[in-house]
Amino acid sequence: MSGTLGIDFGTSNSAAGISVDGTPQLIPLEGDELTMPTAVFFDFESKKMRVGAEASEALLRGDEGRYMRGLKSLLGTRLIRESRMLLGERLDFIDIIARFLHEVKTRAETATGETFTKALSGRPVRFHSEDDAKDAQALVDLKECYARAGFDDVAFMNEPEAAALANRDVMQSGDLGLIVDIGGGTSDFTLFRQKGAQDIDILGSYGVRIGGTDFDRRLSITRVMPQLGMGSPIRHAFGNDTHLAPNGIFNDLATWAKIPFLYGPDTIRAAKDLHKFAVHETRLARLVKVLEEELGHDLAFAVEAGKIMANTPDVENPVIRVGMLKRKAVLPLPAEMMTKKLSGLANQIGEAAEATLAEAQIAPDAVTHLIFVGGSSLMQVVENALTSRLPSAQVHRGAALTAIIDGLALGTTQAF
Ligand SMILES: Nc1ncnc2c1ncn2[C@@H]1O[C@H](COP(=O)(O)OP(=O)(O)OP(=O)(O)O)[C@@H](O)[C@H]1O
Ligand SMILES: [Mg+2]
Repeated sequence: MSGTLGIDFGTSNSAAGISVDGTPQLIPLEGDELTMPTAVFFDFESKKMRVGAEASEALLRGDEGRYMRGLKSLLGTRLIRESRMLLGERLDFIDIIARFLHEVKTRAETATGETFTKALSGRPVRFHSEDDAKDAQALVDLKECYARAGFDDVAFMNEPEAAALANRDVMQSGDLGLIVDIGGGTSDFTLFRQKGAQDIDILGSYGVRIGGTDFDRRLSITRVMPQLGMGSPIRHAFGNDTHLAPNGIFNDLATWAKIPFLYGPDTIRAAKDLHKFAVHETRLARLVKVLEEELGHDLAFAVEAGKIMANTPDVENPVIRVGMLKRKAVLPLPAEMMTKKLSGLANQIGEAAEATLAEAQIAPDAVTHLIFVGGSSLMQVVENALTSRLPSAQVHRGAALTAIIDGLALGTTQAF
């Protein structure tokens, strides 16, 4: 036993595991579940921080408190070091992630009877694909999260490389595989060659900051936010002129990680001002209601559920359920409409896959296997963007939600 815990800290879901006699053993963190939502809820009544499914349940029940999801997206940004008062303590988001990781550590220790002083953590190949300084800062931030969580040391492994390790026995010797890991926050790729029965050679890894939460955001902005007044005319205080409502609040409301920042008095005041002069009064009234009643996450969950519904074959009339805006209201989201809205993002993911091959100087038709992992690899629009670019590769679906933690668990024995 190495005293090293493998942790897949994901934008949407997290998991933990260890290696037992060379086999990955995932640690159930919530009942029998092998993954748990990366979510926290500061419960104002019990004065406790709840994590995982319990946090999401508290939100959906409407308990009094502050819910947060998508925290990984804040790594490397200015916001992560902004502190605020929560349950009587001044905390920044590094503290909050640290507490989440500490809870994972504690639960893993309780489940196994071991003590974990070190962590092998997954990391996206690129936290921020457009900005090198932010990308480097994100790793500094994540290291600090692990230190504050009580780990003496942390090592990192690229998430798709962990997935490659977990899939080290699905191909024949000489085959060339591309891991396509599309998660909540990033898309990550590893190109690898099979050597013998169990060995692999990693030829290159690459990533781009696009994931399922960006799909949610795009769907929210184009399908839901207009119902709250995004892009609608606002009258000037004097005269008959109008201007369009500024996008800021709507963009943030459509972005998982930004929602908790919207519930301050300033934002509500700004929304009320827009409402006062709105041409479409009922739409802006919905914006005020969402902010005042703190319904941003409920709306984000509704969009995510609509996305999954529209992606599920044979569902007849997929919709986004927006009953929190108006009793029983739904916004239809036919599969073709969703494909249209998301094809730009899916194409960028496809281009990143091509860049992975180009960097390793491998032609697309040399790739024999496309191995899909990560929750958003289940999106039809993503699969199409990849299979159209690598038509000769055989598609293999790994364990979508556990391949990365399997690989990290395996890696713990050699991490330090
Ligand atoms: N059946 C499904 N169809 C489409 N999307 C899905 C489905 N199930 C889950 N997702 C999406 O998958 C994403 C979560 O995937 P995953 O758990 O692999 O991400 P993560 O590991 O937490 O994120 P990351 O690795 O980017 O940090 C969410 O955006 C979720 O909406
Ligand atoms: Mg992931």
